[in-house]
Amino acid sequence: MSMSRPLLAAALLIAMRLAWRLDARPATFAAQREADARARMAGRRATDYALENIREEERTHIARELHDDLGQLLATLRVDMSLLMQRPVTDEATRDLLTGMDGRLLSAITSLRRIASNLRPHALDEGGLYFALQSLRHEFEERHGVACELIAREDELVLSDRYSTAIFRIVQESLTNIARHAQAGHVRITLRRQRNTLFLSIEDDGRGIAQADMEKPTSFGLLGMHERVWAIRGDISITGSHGGTRIAIHLPLPEEAGVQACR
Ligand SMILES: Nc1ncnc2c1ncn2[C@@H]1O[C@H](COP(=O)(O)OP(=O)(O)O)[C@@H](O)[C@H]1O
Ligand SMILES: [Mg+2]
Repeated sequence: MSMSRPLLAAALLIAMRLAWRLDARPATFAAQREADARARMAGRRATDYALENIREEERTHIARELHDDLGQLLATLRVDMSLLMQRPVTDEATRDLLTGMDGRLLSAITSLRRIASNLRPHALDEGGLYFALQSLRHEFEERHGVACELIAREDELVLSDRYSTAIFRIVQESLTNIARHAQAGHVRITLRRQRNTLFLSIEDDGRGIAQADMEKPTSFGLLGMHERVWAIRGDISITGSHGGTRIAIHLPLPEEAGVQACR
């Protein structure tokens, strides 16, 4: 039985539309899925950023309280102590006790300053990122006796607070890790700006991070580092070998991140 021409044409049209629909549906689903995933990721980044902002503000608040409140109290105590020590004391044991107390007070003041400055580095507010990184590098060398060089240009590091804080915290965590885990003899921090991208690398010549280290469920330091980078749309890679560990970060810099230095 043969079909008439119009019937054949109609059947063909229906078949073609059906085929197009079957073909189009997965493409639409895939596009929708991708759009959903992108929206979820953008939402997550916004939440990460908001949370990080809150944390940073709280840290600044606690640092100020520590400095203004407890810091002032300890400083006053130290003045009282020196007045007390000027009084005539006849027995040796009391003099030793007072000298010991004065020493411990001084240690308390020093460690309070270190804790407050870790919470919110004064250097970042006072002199900007370059100055803050120099202070970090210097303090690391002094404390751990490990050589640390900073290769960067001050005029390239005039960035908004959001970017400066993220970079400072990443370098700070990296240096803490090097001091705790790497057994390194030399560290190099490099920052380079090219058009609207900032490259940051932190390299050490220690034992080298292993894949298993990065996968430990307790690796919160590394996790935090990833989240900070992702929150500002950057990417990060961490590699380890017998020659040491290398953390490499690319950060795209939007206009508001600081454009003065990009000439
Ligand atoms: N520079 C490094 N060299 C060697 N190992 C490292 C280095 N940085 C990190 N690691 C390893 O990665 C692990 C996870 O680091 P991190 O997430 O910061 O957690 P934590 O420092 O609290 O152990 C560390 O326990 C350590 O084994
Ligand atoms: Mg750590």
